[in-house]
Amino acid sequence: MRFDIITVLPELLEGPFSHSILKRAQQKGLLEVHLHPLRDYALGKHKQVDDYAFGGGAGMVMRVEPIAACIEQLMAERTYDALIYTTPDGERLEQTTCNRLSLMENVLILCGHYKGVDERIREKYITHEISIGDYVLSGGELAAAILVDAVGRLIPGVLNDETSALTDSFQDDLLAPPVYTRPADWNGMKVPDILLSGHDKNIEDWRHEQSVARTKARRPDLWARYRGELP
Ligand code: ADE
Repeated sequence: MRFDIITVLPELLEGPFSHSILKRAQQKGLLEVHLHPLRDYALGKHKQVDDYAFGGGAGMVMRVEPIAACIEQLMAERTYDALIYTTPDGERLEQTTCNRLSLMENVLILCGHYKGVDERIREKYITHEISIGDYVLSGGELAAAILVDAVGRLIPGVLNDETSALTDSFQDDLLAPPVYTRPADWNGMKVPDILLSGHDKNIEDWRHEQSVARTKARRPDLWARYRGELP
């Protein structure tokens, strides 16, 4: 899977993909992340990528021309399955969207900045508008990093243990159960006996009960969805 990310702050995105699972995914040839500095497509000698908003008001708006030039160049090189714009007024990112995106081949992400991009870019090119939550970041780069991380780890072959993505929180609308490792007794705090029993079926049942209890207590909204009471 290939991500192309258009950004005014490429430096911010150099770190997140250079470690651990995503680094290994790239080394294995399963994931490519290409950063495209928007300023390379900027106008005039001041390399301007933003301008005042028509109609007045505080905050700058990202101009159409540099973004269009960058997107057009990339679209001439390959076909994109999704053109995503990271923005707080987008659709809230959820695991199901990540699952769907992980099956795609080429995904382009435009990172928003300032007051946002000129609406005409959204109208002409963008297929998905994604928010990572109801709060405002200073730019869309960290949202893009979260998106690539959440999607990248789902690409088949990226995780060593194929089943571990399937048992994540949210995969079946339930939170994950508690987990423990050695020592079995830490200053009198003991790991539940059942996990040491070696009885796979009982352990599986216990984990499911714990997931249900956690979901009911912490996320009644997810519990309602699990029970088929919400879309
Ligand atoms: N840009 C600024 N805030 C954002 C958010 N919450 N999600 C996605 N992109 C953003």
